[in-house]
Amino acid sequence: MKKFKVCALLMTGIMAAALFAGCGKKDAPASSDKKLVIGVSLPTQREERWVRDKETMEAYAKEKGVDLKIQVADTDVAQQASQVENLISQGIDVLVLAPADASASAQSVEKAHAAGIKVISYDRLIANCDLDLYMSFDNEKVGELQGEYITKKAPKGNYIVMAGAPTDNNATLFKKGAMKYIQPLVDKGDIKVVTDLAVDNWEPTNALKIVENSLTANSNKVDAILAPNDGTAGAAIQALSAQGLAGKIPVTGQDSELTAAQRIVQGTQSMTIFKDTRELGKAAIDAAIKFAKGESVESNGKVNNGKMDVPSSLLAAQVVDKDNLDKVLIDSGYLKKDDVYKK
Ligand code: BGC
Repeated sequence: MKKFKVCALLMTGIMAAALFAGCGKKDAPASSDKKLVIGVSLPTQREERWVRDKETMEAYAKEKGVDLKIQVADTDVAQQASQVENLISQGIDVLVLAPADASASAQSVEKAHAAGIKVISYDRLIANCDLDLYMSFDNEKVGELQGEYITKKAPKGNYIVMAGAPTDNNATLFKKGAMKYIQPLVDKGDIKVVTDLAVDNWEPTNALKIVENSLTANSNKVDAILAPNDGTAGAAIQALSAQGLAGKIPVTGQDSELTAAQRIVQGTQSMTIFKDTRELGKAAIDAAIKFAKGESVESNGKVNNGKMDVPSSLLAAQVVDKDNLDKVLIDSGYLKKDDVYKK
């Protein structure tokens, strides 16, 4: 009873304080009317998937009635840092940050936190800093799917193994997952990794050079290429094509880009991975809105970033090859049949 009274008194006090506060901010809109502002910093628009992430977020934020400020960094670390500073100074409520460089972005996160802004690490994990949430796909599993697929197609022979940008934590996870399948066959003596290199900046021209050099060094005796994403797969296939080898050896990919789907139909790329970035983009906006309202956000696990176990929400990924492409990519509305089968 006594407790109840104290509580009631407190409530009255809080309501009075709230009213009083309302009187002071005469010109400010009532807090429920204030449009939430979400800042988004993306690393690039070079790969088709990042274009989709952006489009999805823009459309969904509009639907949800929130103000979205998006900046794109074109893989430039310094540019991304200054764009984030700019977003912070524009008074965003929450920051969604997909880092161009996992380590360098920690500073941007610290700056946002110092300004009282919660940060969601988007698609790529930011290292060695406090984070409020990490939202991505199960990236190690993505690598496992690639590794499992390619070792089934080529259980023996010479492999070119490419990893993504060393500055991207995802690249490490993709390779780790793939090597779970490749390494045991290397140890057995069935597979020989003739080239094992990272593709700086995820740049297809770097991947092209790696594959061209490896084909030359190995007199074209290459039996499989692990390409971490569709951009690098396209480059690998270009190099194979110049030697009349396109379609003759398995090549992996990731992202379900339109050109990759076309190559799968033509038979030059073996597979890709479908990560529905439409879902990720929407989930990030939903989470950002909750944070902005001071609500808690659900997660389905924790991922360590070197400083802490970050509450994480990871979506599933799926293999796509010629057998399920129509069902997974076209029936889901991700790609249009006419585009994929364009002559
Ligand atoms: C993403 C991939 C993308 C790559 C290059 C990775 O972090 O997860 O989907 O292909 O970056 O942008």
